[in-house]
Amino acid sequence: MNNTSIPWREYAIRELSLLCGIAETHPTLTMSNLRAKSKLFTPVIFGALELEHRVVLAPLTRCRATKSEKYPRTWFPDDLNIEYYCQRATNGGLLISEATPVSLQASGMPGVPGIFTDEQKTGWKRVVDAVHSKGSFFVMQLWHQGRQAHSKATGMRTLSASAVPITGSKYFLRRRDPDGVDWEVPRAMMQTDIEMVKQEYIEAAKAAIEVGFDGIEIHGANGYLPDQFLHSNVNQRTDGYGGTPEKRCRLILELTTELGNAIGFDRLAVRLSPFGFFNQTRGRDRLQQWVYLCRELSRLHLAYVHLIEPRFDEVLSEQDKLHALTSRTSPSHAETPEFTGDQLTLRPFREALGQTPCIVAGGYNPSNCWEGIERGDHDAIAIGRYFTSNSDVVERLRLGQPLARYDRSRFYGPFPDNEIGYTIHLNRQFAAPDEVPQTSHGA
Ligand SMILES: Cc1cc2nc3c(=O)[nH]c(=O)nc-3n(C[C@H](O)[C@H](O)[C@H](O)COP(=O)(O)O)c2cc1C
Repeated sequence: MNNTSIPWREYAIRELSLLCGIAETHPTLTMSNLRAKSKLFTPVIFGALELEHRVVLAPLTRCRATKSEKYPRTWFPDDLNIEYYCQRATNGGLLISEATPVSLQASGMPGVPGIFTDEQKTGWKRVVDAVHSKGSFFVMQLWHQGRQAHSKATGMRTLSASAVPITGSKYFLRRRDPDGVDWEVPRAMMQTDIEMVKQEYIEAAKAAIEVGFDGIEIHGANGYLPDQFLHSNVNQRTDGYGGTPEKRCRLILELTTELGNAIGFDRLAVRLSPFGFFNQTRGRDRLQQWVYLCRELSRLHLAYVHLIEPRFDEVLSEQDKLHALTSRTSPSHAETPEFTGDQLTLRPFREALGQTPCIVAGGYNPSNCWEGIERGDHDAIAIGRYFTSNSDVVERLRLGQPLARYDRSRFYGPFPDNEIGYTIHLNRQFAAPDEVPQTSHGA
């Protein structure tokens, strides 16, 4: 591909030159020296992590682990996973692991490696050692699926903030099963469940640090357990964990504080999706609640907080997501949209975070990844889907090379040929630099 003929190039040169403070008419101005000057490729400190650049691998569930013969219903990381993460490791870069269940009860998908059996810990140690040998930092994302888990996967009761099941869809233990079953009505967590789950997180975090991970990211986004507590349509509690924005934040704040005490706050991070709809999250008071949460998190001096952009949704296209946010956020609020168009921004949350470093994710591509970082809106960007199909996305952005389109049909395994679309890519086609991704699950 001859990228000198691409019209966006002139636009990008002008924009970048203004941002980098270089005269537009500079005789030696080229895209490559502008990119080289971009803040994306400068060092940054996130707590105990001293990164060399700011393009991060977003957490990506890929369901490619090996089934255990020792522990039923569990999966552990193996050689293929080592290869996958090593392909994406860069010197001084940051990889965030796939969401990793803290316990069997926290799990709901086949092929996902947890961090609660000796086999899983040994497997992860092999992955971490290999990633470290490439000079990269590696953070484990800890996961509890809550009502998104299923007794068919765990053999145990599902738990959530309240006894509110997912409706209108089916649970499929195997992705390509023709027959799904209804989602279960979860048990509203009692205080003993809350204490037990927090303990599971602490044990998982300690295990991750013991096997060599550089830090932990709590998955507080996308409608999983901590996010189920954050959403008023799922959390209908009237005790100290529900009923007001502050009380809905209590679980994740307790969890963060207790994990920080266990492993160190400078190795701890939290991921949040204040605009998320995924897994039927339609909470009220979003602006007020997530601003409060970010302000409280800022007091803990975390390594970073990871925020998902409003435009990203797992099911809706960017256009539909932005439209949905400004038209209604919950069926009971159909006539009163919670956001106006100019409120569809992470800015208030970033401001509430104060000095806490901030990673953002959601729809970043070669044309829109430069500006925000230069302005100081955020400190790093995480790339998800494009990292599936471009293990060398950091170099491609740096060199201005086109990115290969991703293949949605190979996002989630397990497959008999797990390596296809994971470590090996067939029939690569290249995307336009500003190509707007459609839904991640869509056809
Ligand atoms: C296949 C796939 C798996 C994902 N798995 C996770 C996950 O395990 N944890 C998480 O927080 N987000 C997960 N996400 C969301 C991504 O981390 C990221 O926020 C999203 O893809 C938007 O970034 P992108 O536009 O660069 O893809 C997943 C997304 C995809 C497409």
